[in-house]
Amino acid sequence: MFITFEGIEGTGKTTQITKVKNYFESIGREVFLTLEPGGSRIGKELRRMLLHVDNKDIAPSTELFLYLADRAQHIAQVIRPELEAGKVVLCDRFADSTVVYQGYGRGLDTKTLQQLNEVAVDGLWPNLTILLDIDPELGLKRATLRNIEEGKAKEEGRFEAEHISFHRRIRDGYLTWAALNKDRIKIANADATPDEVFERIKSIIDAKLADS
Ligand code: TMP
Repeated sequence: MFITFEGIEGTGKTTQITKVKNYFESIGREVFLTLEPGGSRIGKELRRMLLHVDNKDIAPSTELFLYLADRAQHIAQVIRPELEAGKVVLCDRFADSTVVYQGYGRGLDTKTLQQLNEVAVDGLWPNLTILLDIDPELGLKRATLRNIEEGKAKEEGRFEAEHISFHRRIRDGYLTWAALNKDRIKIANADATPDEVFERIKSIIDAKLADS
């Protein structure tokens, strides 16, 4: 089973993914955790280029192709083999991030982006996508604080440094995109304690497991 996690900065995705991993392991499933950008060796180099604050001059289409390159490599070298080995693959961000950030965020055409995603994922779409939803002001506060605490404000701070209006567009974009993909993308409200948010996610996963 292939599950991806989406949301704006600061929704607590990392915490929740760890909880989901523990849950699957408690029911006897082997789990592989990964992320985009940066889930493969080549992807790690692309991640550095994509997220460094010094690269603010990156053109929107350059940014797009780097994310797609990261995804194509990730699918071929990591995600597909891990799924074929029978593992549950949990991925922090995936193709929906491209439609939302480069499309609703940067203004590229979402239909074209989805076609390019098709090339990158090579037929391998997630079985389930969990969208963690939170007010952008709250999310941004959490994310900026985390980057400072982890000493990563420069290496990872390019998106956090965007104006709040960008983050609002992203949040709204996610909600619009989720409504267009209701069967796959399920929304969990992330404005609660980590345990409460996990209970919401767990019920979404349990429904999916019962279904498959
Ligand atoms: P994160 O892994 O710390 O969330 O940072 C990844 C950043 O990259 C995040 O701000 C969203 C952005 N992003 C895109 O713009 N497009 C993409 O396709 C992906 C995967 C991420």
